[in-house]
Amino acid sequence: MKNFYITTPIYYPSGKPHMGHAYSSIIADIFARFKRIDDYNVMFLTGTDEHGLKMQREAEKKSKDIKSFCDELSLKFKDLTKILNLSNNDFIRTTEQRHHKSVIDIWSRLEKSKDIYLSKYKGWYSVSDEAYYDEDEIVTKNNIKYSKGSGSKVEWVEEESYFFKLSAWQNKLIKFYEEENPKFILPKSRKNEVIQFVKKGLKDLSVSRTSFSWGIPVPKNSKHVIYVWLDALTNYLSALNFPNTNNDKYKSFWPADVHIIGKDILRFHAIYWPAFLMAAKIPLPKRVYGHGWILSDQKKMSKSLGNILDPIEIINNYGVDQLRYYLTKEVSLGNDGNISLESLSDCINNDLANNYGNLCQRVFSFINKNCNSKIPKLNKVKPEDKKLTNDLIDQLPKLKELIENQELNQYLKKVIEFSFNANKYFNDQEPWSLKKNNLERMNTVLYVILNQIRSISILLYPIIPISTTKVLDTLTIEKSQRNIKSIENSTFLKDGGLIKKFDILFKKIEK
Ligand code: ME8
Ligand code: MG
Repeated sequence: MKNFYITTPIYYPSGKPHMGHAYSSIIADIFARFKRIDDYNVMFLTGTDEHGLKMQREAEKKSKDIKSFCDELSLKFKDLTKILNLSNNDFIRTTEQRHHKSVIDIWSRLEKSKDIYLSKYKGWYSVSDEAYYDEDEIVTKNNIKYSKGSGSKVEWVEEESYFFKLSAWQNKLIKFYEEENPKFILPKSRKNEVIQFVKKGLKDLSVSRTSFSWGIPVPKNSKHVIYVWLDALTNYLSALNFPNTNNDKYKSFWPADVHIIGKDILRFHAIYWPAFLMAAKIPLPKRVYGHGWILSDQKKMSKSLGNILDPIEIINNYGVDQLRYYLTKEVSLGNDGNISLESLSDCINNDLANNYGNLCQRVFSFINKNCNSKIPKLNKVKPEDKKLTNDLIDQLPKLKELIENQELNQYLKKVIEFSFNANKYFNDQEPWSLKKNNLERMNTVLYVILNQIRSISILLYPIIPISTTKVLDTLTIEKSQRNIKSIENSTFLKDGGLIKKFDILFKKIEK
């Protein structure tokens, strides 16, 4: 069996889960679910990023014991994975022992390869981003300094620090992006951005802090804690039982196939992470995909603007499949995308209720009424039947390729078109007229359309797992047969099988 390892960023649990968190996770979950039904052995990882100054300050502000504070907050994100219906195989916390071991090992490798030296850091630091910024990346407004890129406040830091010789890896990184793995960073615009940044010249990176204590201590010099990003990135290895590189998990899943991340953390994943790994002599992941930003009213969501769309509230009001579908459809993966309650309702009504939902509803209720709820018999097929079926089957290699390249919008567009065409076929064939004069033909039409519903449901399953599972249950498809491969067999359904009673799939949203 082929293996596939996909990760989401591990979340800073300090704030409330928001739409950006939901988005990163849902996207990754869709790819994970697709690969599973395409017969891959999938490892899908998420978790929480709990060390660093941001968390320490947050705990101090609330006068809480830091470890129990982390436990409490991490749990909220674990709950989020359930609410979003994520299929992650593991949930890693950077405060776990298994992670600690793994970070210490990476550090020791970097020391051993002489990529780490002791010096002093003098410069700007953003606690909110947990990032160092150069002078030319800072703006001053009303005497306060901010990062130009993220807009977060920065503060001046001057302290003893270990440095990682990032500068030494500049040319090797460029060679890696341009020659060895031209699809390492996707989409292309992000790749160009990274290459440009690296070509400007890389400075050595501060990888330890001495002015606070909430982190993993540097081996043999515990007044330093390891920089939270070196710590956090290593989670991707910790979940595979690293530093034991001889175990099945590591051997099956490393190097990772894709890290799904938001564009704000591209530098860490596409520059620091591969440089750390090269220095540590660990194979590099195959891809970093940087998605865009979710906007509301064309602006970044923020409390002060009052334009926050809370994923949990939306799920409670509209349903989790509805949110998953909407984010996938509305936001072009890789670009920034605007969301609103208005377009959410339109999307639910047009795509889910009127298109896929309607298709299932009308066919199932026709069969319930006219065929004793039984799957009819397939008789002689006509060219238009074959066309409907084969148009989809012929596209399977293309659909797999789209997923392979994270072209999720193209994928969905095609699948929705299949659903649209299936509705059209049902209209054109008029089984209600055939009922009066050609039962044999009516049965064939119904069989063909049921089969098409099966195929479309399997293809939509990664995006809307709950609703499609209801449909596939109705068709009494065995769990082990709900996969891409079985779509190729268009005579899969057994005639006489019972179409179970069926509740409404997607309620229309009244405006
Ligand atoms: O960055 N739109 O965690 P995080 C889209 N702990 N995506 C958004 C977003 C928005 N408005 N806001 C945030 C961290 N995100 C680190 C990761 S990985 C080793 C460590 C995305 O909780 C963001 O881009 O700040 C990132 O992918 C994810 O949410 C978690 O962000
Ligand atoms: Mg963030």
